[in-house]
Amino acid sequence: MTARPSLIVHGGAGELSEGDDPEGVRQLAGCSTAARAGFEVLRRGGGALDAAVVAVRCLEDDPLFNAGTGSTLTVDGEVECDASLMSGDGRAGAVGCVRTVRNPIELARRVMERTPHVFLVAGGAEEFAVECGIEKLPPGALVTAAMREKWRMAVAQRSASRSGGTVGCVARDAGGQVAAATSTGGMLLKRRGRVGDSAVIGVGTYADDLAGAASCTGAGEAFIKALAAKSAVEAMRSGAAPDEAAQRVLALVRRFGGDGGLICVDAAGRVGFGFDTARMARAWIDADELEGSGFKAA
Ligand code: GLY
Repeated sequence: MTARPSLIVHGGAGELSEGDDPEGVRQLAGCSTAARAGFEVLRRGGGALDAAVVAVRCLEDDPLFNAGTGSTLTVDGEVECDASLMSGDGRAGAVGCVRTVRNPIELARRVMERTPHVFLVAGGAEEFAVECGIEKLPPGALVTAAMREKWRMAVAQRSASRSGGTVGCVARDAGGQVAAATSTGGMLLKRRGRVGDSAVIGVGTYADDLAGAASCTGAGEAFIKALAAKSAVEAMRSGAAPDEAAQRVLALVRRFGGDGGLICVDAAGRVGFGFDTARMARAWIDADELEGSGFKAA
């Protein structure tokens, strides 16, 4: 089967604040760069999973986003990353509460490929990373000065936990296979050990070659209760277009008191998204190779 590949990435749903416009422009550029890097993999005949990992890795390495380098901080001032990925053929891997790995999405992939498990967390995941030959970072290596300052202000103001800047990608390759990948530092001022939706297969990430794939961003606890990504894929299975599937999931998430966004690709390669926050950076390249991007609502 030869299909026309397509892909969409997100750089996280969140609220607007002062200074967000210049940051929005930079986030858009970051999302477009990641989308092009992932699409290049597809254009050369690579698989959807490879493309999604390349795009998410690109966003993890960009300190503007809340994933990998630049991750948000726990109430104790430390980074704890979550990431997951799924291929439409049913293979999946995930990690939670990982502090010493530059690219948590690569570790999630190793869990999928090199263990009989789906989900490793904290010390066990970090030990496995060392076994895989992944560089062990010293404490604080993923903390940026900007995020440390944001954390200081949040602690001083005793602000409630907020998320924003989670990253993700969904793709469909020339073989018609789909994949999804998601990575995050989670919520600012979260408790140590808290795991959000981004690490959970079926919630932050889901893919099924017969229906489509989805990657979510937003208030993790509500997305968990809504089984968000799987719900989006089921909506596409029953004929909803990707944009419509995203809207249905957001309605479910709101019932649990949360907000956020998600990106979707269906089995026919149509890409779509939805969000009910003020912003969600996103960029896509569709099956006609047309590029698009946005930051605020259209
Ligand atoms: N959606 C990211 C989180 O809640 O951790």
